[in-house]
Amino acid sequence: MTIHEIRDKYLAFFESKGHSIVASSSLIPTNDPTTLFTGSGMQPMVPFLLGEPHPEGKRITDSQKCFRAQDIEEVGDNRHTTFFEMLGNWSLGDYFKKEQIPWIFEFLTKEIGLDPKNLYITVFRGNHELGIDRDVESVELWKSVYKSVGIDAKDLDFSERDGMQDGRIFYYDETKNWWSRHGLPANMPVGEPGGPDSEMFWDFGKELGLHERSVFKNNPCHVNCDCGRFLEIANNVFMEYIKTEDGFKPLPNKNVDFGGGLSRIAAAAQNDPDLFNLPSFKGVKERVQASSNGTYGESEELTASFRVIMDHLCAATFLIADGVVPSNKDQGYFTRRLIRRAIRFGRRLNMEQGFSSEIASVVIDEFKSAYPSLEESRDQIINELSQEEEKFSKTLQKGEREFEKMFSNSGAITGNDAFILYSTYGFPLELTEEMAKEKGQDVDREVFTKEFEQHQELSRAGSSQKFTGGLADHSEETVRLHTTTHMLHQALKTVLGDHVVQRGSNITPKRLRFDFTHKEKMTDEERGEVEKIINEQIQLGLSVHYEILSLEEAKSRGAIGLFEDKYSELGGEIKVYFIGDEVAGIYFSKEVCGGPHVENTASLGVFKLKKETSVAAGIRRIKAVLE
Ligand code: ALA
Repeated sequence: MTIHEIRDKYLAFFESKGHSIVASSSLIPTNDPTTLFTGSGMQPMVPFLLGEPHPEGKRITDSQKCFRAQDIEEVGDNRHTTFFEMLGNWSLGDYFKKEQIPWIFEFLTKEIGLDPKNLYITVFRGNHELGIDRDVESVELWKSVYKSVGIDAKDLDFSERDGMQDGRIFYYDETKNWWSRHGLPANMPVGEPGGPDSEMFWDFGKELGLHERSVFKNNPCHVNCDCGRFLEIANNVFMEYIKTEDGFKPLPNKNVDFGGGLSRIAAAAQNDPDLFNLPSFKGVKERVQASSNGTYGESEELTASFRVIMDHLCAATFLIADGVVPSNKDQGYFTRRLIRRAIRFGRRLNMEQGFSSEIASVVIDEFKSAYPSLEESRDQIINELSQEEEKFSKTLQKGEREFEKMFSNSGAITGNDAFILYSTYGFPLELTEEMAKEKGQDVDREVFTKEFEQHQELSRAGSSQKFTGGLADHSEETVRLHTTTHMLHQALKTVLGDHVVQRGSNITPKRLRFDFTHKEKMTDEERGEVEKIINEQIQLGLSVHYEILSLEEAKSRGAIGLFEDKYSELGGEIKVYFIGDEVAGIYFSKEVCGGPHVENTASLGVFKLKKETSVAAGIRRIKAVLE
């Protein structure tokens, strides 16, 4: 049975029980400032769960598109996807447990044909502190539906400690059997609705032997142990409480929020725990296979790459159709991240360039009858993906080359390296982290974050991007090399031309490192000329001072190091360092910068250019010292 057949059957089933079918809401919540994305069927329904009348009545059914950004890094195993559909049926102060439990049991076992022997149930254990009792009513209802199919359903407490012991219905605490947008009762803000829930799990069978082989093997197996034998396929939330200053109080209405994972139910129906084997993924999988050199199932690593590509491009397709185009901020950042991750994993499979839009096209074909807006946005989806893939492929090539260089130089990738990759090459931190992990290393996120924050502060103060993460410390040696770096920047412009623009800088007490745009290797003459100019200027004993200027003034006075797109937004004042004769108003160097610098070039000593190499296409690197 395909997910499309299951979706249709589900909506028809609840329509026959008096429900109005409503369309899925957008992946971007309209009235919910608490999250960036719609991640459950409940989010668009919150006002109605709180008591506002729904225009379609008290019984609603739907299949809601969901995106869970927090699961991006989980994708790769057989069960995690960032995009999925959640089947919903809603009682808004109408029916409650005694209707919901028999209905959903009937749907799963009769309509879908799931064998009740492989279906297990969890319920809320109760919590005195919360003032909420054990859910005995649900237990009795489950027992009676199982009895109707000849199964004696035993209820059992503490299966997590004692194992399953032939139980069918298990009690868990609020970490498992409570639902709200914020998770645990303690995390809910005042005014938030929530309630105990009763979940359904499919048993893929002991014979899979997953528990015995896995990290769980020394603990008893139970439905929530995550060993892979059981999969949660659906959840009845009995949404009847609201959090107040004085604890939980009943909502004006007792509501039902049922959420069923459409693909998970389909996986149970075909008794295959791999969601990526569902027919709805077949076309996409074949497309990945056709333009790669890998086969699904060939190895764990290749299979994980397939899954990332399949999930992420499916999610990106739906996000773009809902207006979330790739960008650097808010929701668009996630679309970008999904596409970029898919491309990166595509490289592992040697996918042909341009694959992302082709896969999106297959996704559109698969889902267009259920979601006609996909077809309407087809051209836009294809364009956005093609453009993003082209852009990112370039970034990736440069960044990966630089990463390998950094790694082979020092045998490690530091937080600072990660920051340089990010700030100079646009290479995302998460990719640096993934590549480092492949080499058995962790990137120091704290260092990266510190650099990042410093970078933002400095740019707010109007200083140049280049010194972010650039100065190892503020020791006298480092400060001397910092002033020398300004002189080098100017000397390079003088000798090589105005196309020279700084692309990175890193200064330690021992040496300066300066990256800049220039195509060819510098000749010996050019190197000699640069050294000569700098040493002449040093010997002149030029004074160094700064002035705070407006952007316009800084520009009209010829300051270099202006990153216009950045400063133009600030509209504030910026700091410009001048090296030269202040009285005569003749300067050798004028550059936007946060400092610090020496007061006079006389203290610098003798400049020596040690090395000039290539870092990336069109970017050269100089290492130099003061002797
Ligand atoms: N809102 C419930 C869930 O997402 C059904 O699990």
